[in-house]
Amino acid sequence: MNPMNKIIIANWKMNPSTVQEAATLAKKIDVADLVIAAPAPFLGVVGSAIKKAKLGAQNVFWEDQGPFTGEVSASQLASVGVSYVIVGHSERRRLGETDEMIARKISVAIHNRLIPIICVGETRGEHEIGQSESVVKKQLEIDLSLLSKTHYSTPIIIAYEPVWAISTEKNAQPDTPENAVAMINSIKQVTDQWPQNTTFIYGGSVNPNNAESFLKHKEIEGALVGGASLKAEEMKAIIEISRKY
Ligand code: PGA
Repeated sequence: MNPMNKIIIANWKMNPSTVQEAATLAKKIDVADLVIAAPAPFLGVVGSAIKKAKLGAQNVFWEDQGPFTGEVSASQLASVGVSYVIVGHSERRRLGETDEMIARKISVAIHNRLIPIICVGETRGEHEIGQSESVVKKQLEIDLSLLSKTHYSTPIIIAYEPVWAISTEKNAQPDTPENAVAMINSIKQVTDQWPQNTTFIYGGSVNPNNAESFLKHKEIEGALVGGASLKAEEMKAIIEISRKY
């Protein structure tokens, strides 16, 4: 990743339905500074389909081998060419993933030279009662608790994703860029020991219509894109915008 450029991460979630569609979409959006976080069964094919983009996974288990039916390890991901992994997405937290689990996942990812994309964010209820900063601070304190000084040269990505701004209707801009910038500035205060190569990005209904309003801010160093990442034209438009900054 060129540190001068913004990074865009396509989070395909549990889409598309078939490996053929995944390969076709990957080829259409294959550009530098893009990470495609594909569903686990499609990682190998998407990895082969892309030449410039990087391959990401959407989850990882904290143990490296053994009797863990259904789980996927960091070394397995690395062995199929994955270099990034999303951890702590709110859609996984909602299924019971705790910050303690997330901390272990981050640790194992880094040990296997995967760059963790660590998602944090408050719910609508927490936002409405003014708890956004304290919730995110608490998440990060635990999420980063297993990072040791030896990790300070490892790249990590922190994605601020307010839960209430994710997957809203098309063309919506639920969060304001001002809030996103303020939250990223607040996140930076959580520790004065960030790994030297930490990138702060925003996610939550980023689409071609609102991408510029977020990405023009220097504090927002990239975007985690869900819904729009499944449409090649929208993804290309977002990437085009990101290159202006
Ligand atoms: P969205 O998803 O762009 O569809 O809101 C973002 C995410 O969940 O990472």
